[in-house]
Amino acid sequence: MADLKKEIERRRTFAIISHPDAGKTTLTEKFLLYGGAINLAGSVKGKKTAKHAVSDWMEIEKERGISVTSSVMQFNYDGYCINILDTPGHQDFSEDTYRTLMAADSAVMVIDASKGVEAQTIKLFKVCLLRNIPIFTFINKMDREARDPFDLMDEIESVLGIKTCPINWPIGNGKDFRGVYDRRTRHIHAFTAFANGQKEVDDTDLTVDSPDVVSVIGDTLYEKLIEDVELLDGASNEFDIKEVTEGKLSPVFFGSALTNFGIELFLNYFLEMTSPPLPRMSDEGLIDSFDPDFSAFVFKIQANMNKAHRDRIAFMRICSGRFDAGMEVYHVQGNKKQKLLQPQQLMASERKVVSEAYAGDIIGVFDPGIFSIGDTLCVPGKKFRFEGIPTFAPEHFARVRQVDTMKRKQFIKGISQIAQEGAIQIFQEYNTGMEEIIVGVVGVLQFDVLKHRLHSEYGVEIRMDMMPHEYIRWIANKDEVDVARIVGTSDMKRIKDLKGNPLLLFVHEWAVNTVLDKNKGLELSEFGRW
Ligand code: G4P
Repeated sequence: MADLKKEIERRRTFAIISHPDAGKTTLTEKFLLYGGAINLAGSVKGKKTAKHAVSDWMEIEKERGISVTSSVMQFNYDGYCINILDTPGHQDFSEDTYRTLMAADSAVMVIDASKGVEAQTIKLFKVCLLRNIPIFTFINKMDREARDPFDLMDEIESVLGIKTCPINWPIGNGKDFRGVYDRRTRHIHAFTAFANGQKEVDDTDLTVDSPDVVSVIGDTLYEKLIEDVELLDGASNEFDIKEVTEGKLSPVFFGSALTNFGIELFLNYFLEMTSPPLPRMSDEGLIDSFDPDFSAFVFKIQANMNKAHRDRIAFMRICSGRFDAGMEVYHVQGNKKQKLLQPQQLMASERKVVSEAYAGDIIGVFDPGIFSIGDTLCVPGKKFRFEGIPTFAPEHFARVRQVDTMKRKQFIKGISQIAQEGAIQIFQEYNTGMEEIIVGVVGVLQFDVLKHRLHSEYGVEIRMDMMPHEYIRWIANKDEVDVARIVGTSDMKRIKDLKGNPLLLFVHEWAVNTVLDKNKGLELSEFGRW
């Protein structure tokens, strides 16, 4: 018992969110470097090859190889056991990116100091808000020409609607970036670049009142810092851990992942300010992570690369207790007791078979096609279900038909199975049958994945016609609304999902509000439920 408590207490499970190129991969790598999980930064993954825009499936498969091995990374640092969840970006951006956030207890938002808040950050941030998890901001690339830090704070507050509280403050930027000022300890951490950021950096630690400070950072930067600090002390939000925990206040850190400036400071504060695995809501109330009985839920299903068998890996987040390989668990949705096969976990970049894991950890298990996203696993004898995972609004839609009408059955089977894995969402016209299927995806790469997989795994060729619609809304109060009588705009389309739930599609975002105005009492939502 004592061991179980200790193990769970030292766990921190978080996701790093950012717009592509803000520095998520570099920051992850630096965490691993400081955790001693890798010796030289630059060795985590084949970033260069991974980055090329691809539409060729062979390339996608190669990339999927990478995304499988980088779904979650675990390492130890200063007594903590850290699980970093990967939120694929770039071409790989998909609903999985959103779903991964359902398994995290907090998020680190990386922002490029010269660009500020960007589109993908906004989308991922909204998903974090759904769960009210703590969000930490790391303003990266301070070694480059950066925007004014006060402007960046203002932008985060006004665009994202979250209060900010700087924990440290940059001293200069670009070529003149000298380090950061720690507001809590009133110390200056001045850095010297070393080994191109491949090794941990030397840190000169001085109190702000020390006579040596001016010689380290120079007159001008010193005066500017004193001015900024005065302004901050008077005008910035007070640090309040309760507000941080509720996701209402984001602690902000400045640094440069590439050169390691500010990484250690960030990591130490982050670990201190975040909590061990959080309890999770089920239909029988909150399940405490420290409950000794094992429980977990599936948040991601990855089709395996072996085409001969339609094997899959189901990723689950352990929510309570301890997992032992070989233990029998109860799959609530399948109403079946079973062993979890080939449980695996990732240490830095290596995959390893796990024999035990604890609340907060993520494990991948072999899935012969029985698990669905959102499924609960617990100890035999218990039967609760964790709260479902939302379905996220796709932003790209296409009408899909099989070319050979004789292959209708395979087509429906294939497309339904791929939808069940959560790679795509499928819809139909509101008033007609299965004749034509509308496919919605979060990232356009999923269209290529669909086409290729239907061809190679089900022997079905398809034709896809892109639709101009980009905005989808679920009708939240569907039982009170007559869908056929909704007064629409000319670009609005009525569709339904496979369970018959009505949805509306729009070409323009403004049309959503127009329809809400025209139909009093109608409630629309950006999220559905699995
Ligand atoms: P991502 O995962 O968020 O997409 O970003 P990634 O870490 O790949 O970083 C994108 C680019 O920004 C990389 O350069 C990376 O080296 C650079 N970068 C990351 N952090 C910093 C920083 O603190 N300062 C500076 N100056 N650059 C930073 P690249 O040339 O596009 O790729 P690569 O050749 O380094 O792989």
